[in-house]
Amino acid sequence: MEAVQTYIQTNRQRFLDELLDFLRIPSVSADTKYKNDVLKAADWLSAELKRIGMEGVEIVPTKGHPVVFGYKHVSDSLPTILVYGHYDVQPADPLNLWNSPPFEPVIKDEKIWARGSCDDKGQLYMHVKAIESMLATKSLACNVKVMFEGEEEVGSANLGTFLEENKSRLGADVILVSDTSIIANDVPSITTGLRGLSYMEVEVTGPNKDLHSGVYGGAVANPANVLCSMIASMHDENRHITIPGFYDDVDTVSDEERKQMNMAPFNEGDYKKELNVRELMGEKGYTTLERTSIRPTLEVNGIWGGYIGEGAKTVLPSKASAKISMRLVPHQDADKITQLFTDHIKKIAPASVTVKVTAHHGGAPAVTPTDTIEYKAAAKAMNQTFGKDPLPQRSGGSIPIVALFESILGVKTVLLGFGLDSDDIHSPNEHYGLFNFYKGIETIPYYYHYYAEMKK
Ligand code: BES
Ligand code: MN
Ligand code: MN
Repeated sequence: MEAVQTYIQTNRQRFLDELLDFLRIPSVSADTKYKNDVLKAADWLSAELKRIGMEGVEIVPTKGHPVVFGYKHVSDSLPTILVYGHYDVQPADPLNLWNSPPFEPVIKDEKIWARGSCDDKGQLYMHVKAIESMLATKSLACNVKVMFEGEEEVGSANLGTFLEENKSRLGADVILVSDTSIIANDVPSITTGLRGLSYMEVEVTGPNKDLHSGVYGGAVANPANVLCSMIASMHDENRHITIPGFYDDVDTVSDEERKQMNMAPFNEGDYKKELNVRELMGEKGYTTLERTSIRPTLEVNGIWGGYIGEGAKTVLPSKASAKISMRLVPHQDADKITQLFTDHIKKIAPASVTVKVTAHHGGAPAVTPTDTIEYKAAAKAMNQTFGKDPLPQRSGGSIPIVALFESILGVKTVLLGFGLDSDDIHSPNEHYGLFNFYKGIETIPYYYHYYAEMKK
């Protein structure tokens, strides 16, 4: 273990310089304008995997962006770790809110500032560098496979098929993912749950053209007003979601587990201060930690229609739209929720408008167990590098493929993330702490070490 840690210390600067190169490639999966850059990131990554000595490195095409695959087989008697990560990133806009350009990474205040620095190129690259370090010091304690996808940020639509078609070459004892957060740099944690997702778009059409809002206003339904009242009606005064059947399959979490969950360090005052809000708002009867992990939500992600240019234009718009997502918890089913939402919107829409509902991506929630060797090895590895035991914590975010790892491959996942919720992923000025980047690289080899030992 010493040789590998020495290797990491010796190569610290180079590891970082390489990551900055990776971050310079604008691999935005959502925008076809960047299609070549997404491919460039896949190329860059596969060249790097070859360089560090991985075998069978391949850029596997899918109907969308390709998967980068590679492996290193050490011995049949050792367990196999499959590492998953994503090399695509979220769009960077609004660009004017960035303090430095999103694809020109800078180091400032001990942090890496760039789109993808934390989500997920920085975290993915920790694995590449940990594997390099273990290979270089001949201390790779497990067989390893890597699969890095280029479509996570757009819903991993083609990855299920990839899993189906590559079941045998993806065989593994555990899947290791670094794409989540720890509670704080001095409060390590392991993510034990992710929410699912159902992402919808609603378009409301009123009159067949934009109208003078004085001449017609008052007589014709305004689709923007209608959309707003439909959205408002989907929560009651307790912030419960009013879609019939929405909560039917929601798993009730035991009082004991809720008590445990609320013992995690959390300061509401700091939280409000950081977000500059006077008061928090959420479902009655649940704490903030519960509202963002074990409870489902419905949120408007974007809403538009009518005149949004400079100044004031008096107009009654013909159309108004919203993108609405629902975060789901065990055992809600994304397809079922999508259907319930669609039926409900159509039912509450007044006859004065027509409504079109489209489903975007979805995904199942996941919980990962803590009473397994796979989890315990992660806890031990973190204890080694942080000097204390990590707390299990369920996250509010989604990684849709995690549920499919279990249902298609039959393999459980360990969510060994090193980001912070305050890293502004998906926002302007995304950043990733150097502390976190290096802590990840240092912790991962301990995982291999302890996992192999515990599996014996
Ligand atoms: N890495 C995030 C998910 C995440 C972030 C989990 C922080 C836990 C803590 C992932 O890249 C992501 O953003 N997922 C999307 C879902 C996807 C279908 C677009 C999300 O959660 O919105
Ligand atoms: Mn991610
Ligand atoms: Mn993301």
